[in-house]
Amino acid sequence: MNDSTQNTIPVIAIDGPSASGKGSVAQLVADALGFAYLDSGALYRVVAYAAKLANIDWTHAQAVADCAKNLDIQFKHEQVYLNGHDISEAIRTEEMGKGASQVAVHAALRAVLVDVQHRFRQSPGLVADGRDMGTVIFPDAVLKIFLTAKTETRAERRYKQLLGKNQPANYENILQDLQERDARDKGRASAPLVMAQDAFLLETDNLTISAAVNIILQNFKHKIHK
Ligand code: CDP
Repeated sequence: MNDSTQNTIPVIAIDGPSASGKGSVAQLVADALGFAYLDSGALYRVVAYAAKLANIDWTHAQAVADCAKNLDIQFKHEQVYLNGHDISEAIRTEEMGKGASQVAVHAALRAVLVDVQHRFRQSPGLVADGRDMGTVIFPDAVLKIFLTAKTETRAERRYKQLLGKNQPANYENILQDLQERDARDKGRASAPLVMAQDAFLLETDNLTISAAVNIILQNFKHKIHK
């Protein structure tokens, strides 16, 4: 079942900007429902990482897309493997976040990754997190959430997250980087970050992760019992 429009396996699409809390929230929603989880941002990070290894400039659209065609990417127990090597830590750096956002502007690369993402749709269901889950990859998702928060709130969260991991962190740089990334995600021609018309807006500035998870679970129950 590759054609997502004919697929009856339920998808919850969670889109939104960097550091809105999508990753943690999406994983917890998936755990609560026993659903698979797709971290689509990790795919773009893996491509940025692989391109760098192959000395391919992130701005070279066709070379980046060709590089992505030949990758063996596996997700196992929250770890990410590239050609059999565990690269989970290596793709989580700020550099690879920046690289991911640069390679993600290429329509040719996004086209290569469509089928890869559709393959995550497996019974009993999928929670997919990214920028274009509800708009492009799973337009028939049963529930679409647009998770966001003010830029300052998100910068603060990213700052604390990095400190927690004993990584160097500078609030002003993080804020600037988030602003640049938001602008690139929203401004690109191919699959820009935009809230789907039928999405539910969830602003998390004053919400805990578990409160956001509960709201999504309640919405999902409501949708499937309609
Ligand atoms: O951790 P953060 O939210 O910054 O990023 P991520 O979810 O790991 O994704 C890394 C980058 O990939 C984002 O900045 C987006 O530019 C891009 N991306 C995308 O274009 N489409 C997606 N479905 C997911 C991520």
